[in-house]
Amino acid sequence: MNTSIRKFNIEDLAEVIRITKISNFGKTEEFFLKTHKVFPDYFVVPEINGKVVGYTVSLVYPRFSDTGPAFLSKLLNRLIHNTTIPSCIRKLALSNRAFHILTAISPEYRRMGLASAIKTRVLEEMKKQGIKKVSTAIRVTNIPSIKMNKKLGFKEKKHLPDYYGDGTPGILLERDL
Ligand SMILES: CC(C)(COP(=O)(O)OP(=O)(O)OC[C@H]1O[C@@H](n2cnc3c(N)ncnc32)[C@H](O)[C@@H]1OP(=O)(O)O)[C@@H](O)C(=O)NCCC(=O)NCCS
Repeated sequence: MNTSIRKFNIEDLAEVIRITKISNFGKTEEFFLKTHKVFPDYFVVPEINGKVVGYTVSLVYPRFSDTGPAFLSKLLNRLIHNTTIPSCIRKLALSNRAFHILTAISPEYRRMGLASAIKTRVLEEMKKQGIKKVSTAIRVTNIPSIKMNKKLGFKEKKHLPDYYGDGTPGILLERDL
């Protein structure tokens, strides 16, 4: 089996959407395209024998952001516009804190270390780019994800009773880089 890790490119979108649907996440094509446009280094996929079998996607908080439930779409919209201004100014608009949005692996390729491998690659890239802290929010019912993140050094920081619209509580996990 030939396994490799690389950055997402637009041709991977259909497979990313397929895996997203299987995993019961409501993220749209538009969400992935916007995130990729703004943070291409933090959108990474694993391939097995040339086939994309998962992805991980993260972003960097703006310097002055609220972290309430609506932050994600506001943030993406704001940063999309920032791509048209010089990168030095864009850099000034960003903080040194990242948020890991989502990692998903095709069911038939789970428990092979792929999520850990792609997240580790992104954490290394973030560290190189000066990110100091990474957070992620996970449903309390998602034991595989909580365990995987703890294995990568994330620690429970906060209970998030109202984070998800369906009433499932979340937990905020954080890791220093
Ligand atoms: C969560 C998910 C991304 C993990 O992907 P994965 O490639 O299977 O994870 P890894 O193989 O890197 O697992 C690393 C560790 O996480 C833990 N883990 C992963 N899956 C687990 C499971 N089903 N049950 C218990 N622990 C699990 C284990 O500690 C594992 O280490 P081990 O295999 O040496 O025991 C995958 O289950 C998935 O795609 N789920 C659906 C999408 C999702 O819920 N994403 C998370 C929301 S951000």
